[in-house]
Formats: sequence, structure tokens, C-alpha cells
Amino acid sequence: MTQPATLFVCALCKFPSPAPGAGDTTGGQHLIDQLAECLAADQGEITIQPVRCMAACDRACNAALTAPGKLTLIFNGLSPQAAAPDLAEFCRQYAEATGGKVPYGLRSPAIKQATAYVLPPLVEAHSPTVRV
Ligand code: FES
Repeated sequence: MTQPATLFVCALCKFPSPAPGAGDTTGGQHLIDQLAECLAADQGEITIQPVRCMAACDRACNAALTAPGKLTLIFNGLSPQAAAPDLAEFCRQYAEATGGKVPYGLRSPAIKQATAYVLPPLVEAHSPTVRV
């Protein structure tokens, strides 16, 4: 069953090198624009949420994919010019995967390379806290 997911994307990340013709558009905003096109048919299932800096500016472009009860995946080093199709496809896989656990073998090489961190789902408020 598909579950709505949110993709946070840093709108302020720079292009890794000067991008001819980009004007004042940041690398992050370019990536967001490309993702919006790739995910146009998936509105309601995947929400793109632009954010202003994710504190990993030296590893641009940065994004994070999350949904209630699912893993959170944090990506960095995404190409503003080339990452959108692979990231959009991964968002669709994630939305359909139980717990957001997309089998590693189904992930594109670009997504495997860009995956920096994976966090477990939030523990529900009424669950006992585990102390380490
Ligand atoms: S500007 Fe994108 S992480 Fe800081």
C-alpha cells in the first residue's frame, strides 16, 4: 500500500561547479524544479518540501525522505543536474515499501552513492523509552 511521504530538499545548496545559464538559481532550487517535473504524476503521495539549509553545505545537494512509521533516509552529494529521475523513482519505491525499506538491490547506483544516513522510525509517544 502506498503511504504519503515527504521529501525535504535544501533549496540553498550550491551547484558543485559554476552552471552555465543557471543565473541566480541555486543548485538546490534547480534540483527541486527537476523533481517537481519528475513527480508531477505523484502529487498527494510524495510532497516536496523545500528547506533553507540542512547544515551539510559542503556536501550539496542535500535531501531527506521521511514518512510516519518509516525509515528516514538522508542523502547528500546529489547532482542538481542529474539526480532528479533517480531520486523520484526512489521516492516512489519508498512510498510503496513497508517501513520504507526499499531492497538495496532495487536502488539505483546514484541513490546507493548518495545515501548518507538511515534513521529508524520515530518511537510512538506511548512506547516505553529505552535507555542505553
Ligand atoms: S545550503 Fe544546503 S545544506 Fe546548507
